[in-house]
Amino acid sequence: MKPSTSVPATVKPLSGVLGAEISGIDLSQKLSTELFHIIHQAFLDHHVLVFRNQTLTPEQQMRFGRCFGELDFHPFVEGNTEFPELLNIVTEPDDQLNFGGGWHTDVTFLAEPDLGSILYGIELPAYGGDTLFSSQIAAYNTLSDPMKEMLGALTATHAAAKQYRADGPSTKSKAMNTNDTDPAAFTVSHPVIRTHPETGRKALYVNSGFTTRINGVSRDESKMLLDFLLNHAVQERFTCRVAWEPGTLVMWDNRCVQHHALHDYAGQRRHVRRITVKGDQPR
Ligand code: SIN
Repeated sequence: MKPSTSVPATVKPLSGVLGAEISGIDLSQKLSTELFHIIHQAFLDHHVLVFRNQTLTPEQQMRFGRCFGELDFHPFVEGNTEFPELLNIVTEPDDQLNFGGGWHTDVTFLAEPDLGSILYGIELPAYGGDTLFSSQIAAYNTLSDPMKEMLGALTATHAAAKQYRADGPSTKSKAMNTNDTDPAAFTVSHPVIRTHPETGRKALYVNSGFTTRINGVSRDESKMLLDFLLNHAVQERFTCRVAWEPGTLVMWDNRCVQHHALHDYAGQRRHVRRITVKGDQPR
């Protein structure tokens, strides 16, 4: 297949601090170096990219993901039988909870959490089912200097067991299966403030999904700090909101963004296809 060459790509911001919609690019085609450079720069600048009206096979979605690095496998959720790197994220009409509901950063219980995730919309509810994103760079920037200094010296514990319990599956959706990997083996410490490895920008790096404790302080101090930081991190002024349609592809920078898949579409089905790109050790 011929690589996509010079295309009049346009980048339109979605909110004051993060997110952009890119048009003029067909991701089913192999990307030229020039086009990849445009997308990569937009990714570093906006952290959440939205591409509309794409028609992508799993292989084409995975080829796009590999432009950013090696694809990862989810340690607990079973992937697609043919392409195990690919997760079918499905909420059935009568599911009480959805996968990815609640603010979180993906797989921070890994020593090297994913660089980013790339989701492609297959079947979306007629209304509802948006995904919210929050810039952790904006969250960091709005802290006071003394708070930044204190947090800069701290690390926090992130544990898979907070979501994936050993006593049973917690994918929360009938259509998704967990394997029997022991979540207790996935407990790590990361800095509370992370420096983005490509841009050098600092970001708050704790999340409600997996962060269990601020290390080296008392339990009460840890609770107080975490309560404050987890609320601070997801204020409306740091967010953007993406409404899905079949054919929408969304990618986000998991190194500086939290996200929250809303479950406000009771009685309807939602199916998006997710791949993730391996990341590095937070520093
Ligand atoms: C996720 O957390 O990966 C799910 C996001 C979504 O379904 O919108």
